[in-house]
Amino acid sequence: MKDILILGIESSCDETSVSVVKNGREVLSNVINSQIKIHEEYGGVVPEIASRCHTEVINGVMKEALKEANVTLNDIDAIAVTQGPGLVGALLVGVSYAKGLSFATGLPLVAVNHIEGHIAGNYLTHKDLEPPFLCLIVSGGHTHLVNVKSYNEFEILGKTRDDAIGEAFDKVARVVGLGYPGGPKVDNLAKEGEASIKLPVTHFENLDFSFSGIKTAVINLNHKDLSINKADLCASFQKAVTEMLLTNTEKAVKEFGVNKIAIAGGVSRNSYIRKEFDKFAEKMNIKVYYPEPVLCTDNAAMIAAQGYYNYINNERAELNLNAIPSLKIGE
Ligand code: KG4
Ligand code: ZN
Repeated sequence: MKDILILGIESSCDETSVSVVKNGREVLSNVINSQIKIHEEYGGVVPEIASRCHTEVINGVMKEALKEANVTLNDIDAIAVTQGPGLVGALLVGVSYAKGLSFATGLPLVAVNHIEGHIAGNYLTHKDLEPPFLCLIVSGGHTHLVNVKSYNEFEILGKTRDDAIGEAFDKVARVVGLGYPGGPKVDNLAKEGEASIKLPVTHFENLDFSFSGIKTAVINLNHKDLSINKADLCASFQKAVTEMLLTNTEKAVKEFGVNKIAIAGGVSRNSYIRKEFDKFAEKMNIKVYYPEPVLCTDNAAMIAAQGYYNYINNERAELNLNAIPSLKIGE
């Protein structure tokens, strides 16, 4: 069978990325232009600045992605682009660029849901992984527990009722003075601390999550006692949020009787979470999958991977494709 090459385009937040992926599984290139340094001074992503940066770099990133993959647009079978969820101005840059490219080349256009893209990041690292499986998506904007029934069918089992887990990591980092983006910094500092501080964990009857309570508790403790041991606070925070993730995942594994789970999204880079999920998998006698670190945070290879599965499922977008900032998974 002829190889299928997908050009993926991602611009939903603060990374401009273009990638070429073969047959949904093999990364030929994955160029990521991160704006972290630019947003750092504001303590978080400034949407207007993000859109402008995407506009400035997207064409160069695309050319570099083709060059690295050693292909031209003539070799590409379809263009896959993130339609949402994300920042509307940022998404529009990628969507408009993809539409222009599709119009100019005549290549088919495929829309990709960013969260489904995060799940597909696992297909690139684990060639043996096939649905059905359960996936926990933990990122800066999302916390979802999803039943991945097939490459194109998703059922949300639980989600956060307030903050995303990555938002809580970033806020904790900010209040203890670690800067932005906070997740990796909390991860590192926690290694020097003891999880000795009691923090509230929230559970619901169903499989939903909540991280605003623990976030506020960390802010208050830090306010009350500025000399509190920051490493202990980070370690305690990580332990408590991991407990919340594990409780719901265990409930879902038992309810659905699955033997494999995948974790995806920026927070799945966290070393403590990975260690605890490895132990959990051993205890439950199931297999756990994580994408390699660069495929956890936002990148276009994961969009091209999901784009491939949408493409072979005959999903096509027209030139009136619009960005949808609040796009839900499975839509
Ligand atoms: O998936 P992603 O790049 O963007 C969204 O789609 O939201 O995730 C970014 C999030 C940020 O909140 C960042 O702090 C977090 O992932 N993150 C981490 C780690 N590396 C990145 N959180 C905890 N531990 C890490 N090592
Ligand atoms: Zn993301």
